[in-house]
Amino acid sequence: MVTGSTTTESLQCVRCGQDQNLWQLSPRCTACGGLLAVSRDLSEYDATMLRGAWAARRGSLAPHDRSGVWRFRELIAPLDLDEMTARGEGNTGLYPTEELARWAGVASLHLKHEGENPTGSFKDRGMTAGVSVARKLGARTVACASTGNTSASLASYAALAGLGCLVLVPAGEHTSAAKLSQALAYGARTLAIRGDFDRALVLLQALAPELDLYVLNSVNPWRLEGQKSIMFETLEALGWEAPDWIVLPGGNLGNTSAFTKALLEMRELGLIARLPRIAVVQAAGASPFAASYAGGWAPLQPVRADTMATAIRIGDPVNHPKASAGVRALDGVVTTVTDPEIMDAKALVDRAGIGCEPASAASIAGLRRLCKEGVIGAEERVVAVITGHLLKDPDASSRYHASAAEHANPPTEVDADERSIRAVVRGL
Ligand code: F0G
Repeated sequence: MVTGSTTTESLQCVRCGQDQNLWQLSPRCTACGGLLAVSRDLSEYDATMLRGAWAARRGSLAPHDRSGVWRFRELIAPLDLDEMTARGEGNTGLYPTEELARWAGVASLHLKHEGENPTGSFKDRGMTAGVSVARKLGARTVACASTGNTSASLASYAALAGLGCLVLVPAGEHTSAAKLSQALAYGARTLAIRGDFDRALVLLQALAPELDLYVLNSVNPWRLEGQKSIMFETLEALGWEAPDWIVLPGGNLGNTSAFTKALLEMRELGLIARLPRIAVVQAAGASPFAASYAGGWAPLQPVRADTMATAIRIGDPVNHPKASAGVRALDGVVTTVTDPEIMDAKALVDRAGIGCEPASAASIAGLRRLCKEGVIGAEERVVAVITGHLLKDPDASSRYHASAAEHANPPTEVDADERSIRAVVRGL
């Protein structure tokens, strides 16, 4: 049956296995503090019916049908239609790129451009789900720690839903001014913490019960349910033919957890016949997950993170238990790239006319590295996820193009007369 609201979901702890109340305020297991995951009985769904219902909704004018998240609502959250706080999120482009594919070393490369979401990053897909659930629970104030994008997105959706919003971001240069300005402008109470993201998230989780805050970091299982829609939309756009690889950047590992869950659900439902592999790319200065992978899935050792890709400047990724299980299930790999590699890849994503912020370009830099190493073959078909918009970090672009970097395209200052312009243009 295909309906707006089903009751097949349950909430389970991935550590101790205990069943939890589906509609609870605690985002973690109340018994052991482990991560929670939404599970659902998929046996009542039929792949053909789901595909048909999802396709039909694209032609509707209703906000919950047009949303690239709620269009897939059977696999997102069992809410009534009027409980969904939506603002046209999702429905992002999937762009074939020939030059970039050649540069990376693969036959076919599509970029899924999540920067096209309303606040400029994939976070909107998680927040439409998380904030809708917050409203259903009767939460008064939603909160997050953030490297910037989560706070921008939460601030927007909280304002739409009429909820209070508290965000904690690292003070100073490690939070992009553009992202911070979004949180401020959407009206969030914004605390600039004299510490890093990892510290901010620890503090928030410790204080949330006392301060009556509903935490909407990706530790929240409903956030991940919303972010699964990136994979539903991608596979739908590819005619339900899985590519060979999905490549994405890894920070707090919410997307890694969400994508692998979505792909496993799609295979179980028969929506796709086979699974793609997954490649997670971390910045070298913030790569505890890559180190765990390289050590044969050794226990994750938190690090003090540092990278110019501030969105993924994370040293203790909260979702690593889910992410490592997911990567293993998809026979995936985890790799690292340096900041200069990230910035060169970003320049090429930008020049392709698509554009992204530094963290997003880690996926393309990582793809190139994996091709050079022979992990990804030249004939393979790849989808890389571009997680955030170019304008999320304009300073990073300006600095790059003012530098002597390989793909720098600096402006030429000229006198304000015809002759000077003519001389410069003819000189090109
Ligand atoms: N790309 C961008 C643009 C991000 O903003 C983030 C995370 C990631 C990638 C990493 O995704 O955590 O699912 O592995 N940004 C968070 C924030 C942490 O606060 O905005 P992940």
